[in-house]
Amino acid sequence: MIVAMDGPSGTGKSSVSRRLAGALGARYLDTGAMYRIATLHALRKGVDLDDAGAIADVTAGLPWSIGTDPAGEQVLLDGEDVGIEIRGGAVTSAVSAVSAVPSVRELLVDAQRRLAREAARIVVEGRDIGTVVLPDADVKIYLTASAEARARRRNEQNIAEGRGDDYAAVLADVQRRDHLDSTRTVSPLRPADDSVLVDTSELGIDAVIARLLDLVTERTGVQQ
Ligand code: DC
Repeated sequence: MIVAMDGPSGTGKSSVSRRLAGALGARYLDTGAMYRIATLHALRKGVDLDDAGAIADVTAGLPWSIGTDPAGEQVLLDGEDVGIEIRGGAVTSAVSAVSAVPSVRELLVDAQRRLAREAARIVVEGRDIGTVVLPDADVKIYLTASAEARARRRNEQNIAEGRGDDYAAVLADVQRRDHLDSTRTVSPLRPADDSVLVDTSELGIDAVIARLLDLVTERTGVQQ
């Protein structure tokens, strides 16, 4: 059973996906983390981010691995745990450029399909899961929230994690990334025609999970 979970950043998608996977006894795949590993690798190799060919070349030999345990994904680059570094500012600013390179997407999409096939049950989280990666997924969910709600959450997270308080800058970054992700030519961010839209602007995580569990049971017969 495959649940495809798409939507922009800041909708609570990662927390929701992880908790949903835990409740369903399923694996969890964070495809954004895969694009972030590729980005960290390109940055470490000193690649010019305007040079798509150079990004493609270094990504072809990407020495990486990613775990699918919803209780804690292990993200390795060259054998080193980079789970924290891939969430930092340098990677976050550069990831849109790297994820727009077609050969990078091809390589990672292949790996995503393989990891999804290996699991009996899995929640796969990303931007193009229901549209491109796994169009036959049993349940497709598209989480949305207003840009303001998403920026507010991210800013609160930054404050909690000691990265400062700057709502205006966070909102500008959310809008910039939305624009880049939805206007790129390869796999732009958009809901699949057969996805269920869930707006999390005014919903807490418990309410979202309850709604999604109902939806999964209704569509697949799978219970928690
Ligand atoms: O979900 P996230 O913020 O960790 O994703 C990081 C970046 O990767 C984001 O800019 C969009 C991109 N991404 C993508 O293009 N396709 C996916 N399936 C997942 C993420």
